[in-house]
Amino acid sequence: MPAVTKVCCIGAGYVGGPTCAVIALKCPHIKVTIVDLNQSRIDAWNSADYKLPIYEPGLEDVVRRARGRNLFFSTDIDGSIQEADLIFVSVNTPTKKSGVGAGFAADLNYVESATRRIAKVATSSKIVVEKSTVPCRTAESMRIILEANSSPNCRFDILSNPEFLAEGTAINDLFKPDRVLIGSLQTPEGIAASNALVEIYANWVPKERILSVGLWSSELSKLAANAMLAQRISSVNALSAICEATGANIDEVAHAVGYDSRIGPNFLRASVGFGGSCFQKDILNLVYLSESLHLPEVAEYWKQVVIMNEYQKRRFSKTVVDMLFNTITGKRIAVLGFAFKADTGDTRESPAITLVRDFLLEKAHVSIYDPQVEHAQIWSDLSEALPLVPLPNLQKQVHITSSALDCCKDAEAVVIATEWREFREIDWEAVYRGMNKPAFVFDGRLLVDAQKLRSIGFKVTVIGRGEQL
Ligand code: NAD
Ligand code: UDX
Repeated sequence: MPAVTKVCCIGAGYVGGPTCAVIALKCPHIKVTIVDLNQSRIDAWNSADYKLPIYEPGLEDVVRRARGRNLFFSTDIDGSIQEADLIFVSVNTPTKKSGVGAGFAADLNYVESATRRIAKVATSSKIVVEKSTVPCRTAESMRIILEANSSPNCRFDILSNPEFLAEGTAINDLFKPDRVLIGSLQTPEGIAASNALVEIYANWVPKERILSVGLWSSELSKLAANAMLAQRISSVNALSAICEATGANIDEVAHAVGYDSRIGPNFLRASVGFGGSCFQKDILNLVYLSESLHLPEVAEYWKQVVIMNEYQKRRFSKTVVDMLFNTITGKRIAVLGFAFKADTGDTRESPAITLVRDFLLEKAHVSIYDPQVEHAQIWSDLSEALPLVPLPNLQKQVHITSSALDCCKDAEAVVIATEWREFREIDWEAVYRGMNKPAFVFDGRLLVDAQKLRSIGFKVTVIGRGEQL
């Protein structure tokens, strides 16, 4: 199989954009074109002032170095498919909202339409790489669609190459991945296609970190990795509830547990709950897969990880109401952070959305500040979370500010929903002066120095810490 010289990536989102920009940077001999149906997203990737459609530390530098050299962003999907030797399919696979499997199964509509497009317009053989996270055996459906619709003399080899980057650290994760996983059919043609993709990554990833496995193992490994990561957070969050009830400290417990080399210290940080576009979606997908395979006990096991996460969010909003003398009606609650984690502007499944919704349903006034999330995004998320509340009513109850200090002014309580570093360094004395008294802080991210805040006068509640006030 000749070496790949032209790559197309269908989907210019959080995964397709950074992943293929890094491939372009590291492989100057390969032309990489990232395409999308969404014109405004492509315009943002091409913007002269590098106002990229996603915020990701280090991304702008990568795009500056490669764009126009061998990295291109375009809406000419057909032209880019036609010239490519290898095509990444990196489109969204959200949880289905209606129909069979609603609320659990992945919506594969975008993957299917991208696949059909490839079949329709390709005039030469292609390696088609499933980059999106998909249920086990999706590659088989893609192969059937491609083979049934392709023109003569077009051969398609399908690979699975799931992406493990985390938002906020995507560039570092892509530069130095723990592993690159490539799944292929174990036929001579499948192995040759896999080797062609290995050669691309081998431009910067050590070969021992590039794992070649069967197609179905690769697809399942992605769901498994996310399920096990989320399971760690739900486990530590379940323990955080016990800590609060007993006077133990979740930081100390996680530290002690993580010292066991079989468990390890990472990803054991208690929080107000995990968010992001992947964890919940991928676990629900695994639950659906298990049910479809008539494995109800397995499905129940994984479902519990999501149930615990919902419980953690609910428990946190209830603590806020309880501590504020059982009512927050008419009180101002300042919510610091709206993104699902620090160093991203992404709000998909952010726990902050659930918290703000709960506070609004209790008829509180809510101020929100996030250093990266667009105000329009916050309005859109809240409108979706509270579909029965018209936007003008929402706008009377919610105030979005441009600084943390403004956000906390005249509030009864500050709620830390995202672990942005700047919240640790706020002038807490100034915050205290501007707030109504007693002034409460609820730290859902183990971020602040509780002792220091208490010495200023705050009443502080930290997730997973027994002692309160
Ligand atoms: P996204 O919504 O940010 O981007 C997907 C893009 O695909 C959108 O811009 C959309 O317009 C485009 N698109 C959809 N159908 C198309 C079509 N037929 N032709 C051209 N463009 C089309 O999604 P994302 O966060 O980049 O996720 C993509 C996939 O990667 C998902 O399966 C997700 O589960 C997986 N994933 C995401 C992350 C993450 O951190 N976001 C990490 C690993 C894996
Ligand atoms: C995740 C996976 O980590 C990544 O490998 C996969 O490719 C996509 O899904 P992402 O969702 O971008 O990445 O971020 P991640 O760092 O995993 O955080 C997910 C959520 O868990 C965030 O809300 C984060 O705040 C929370 N979290 C993470 C905790 O609450 N505690 C932790 O110890 C770690």
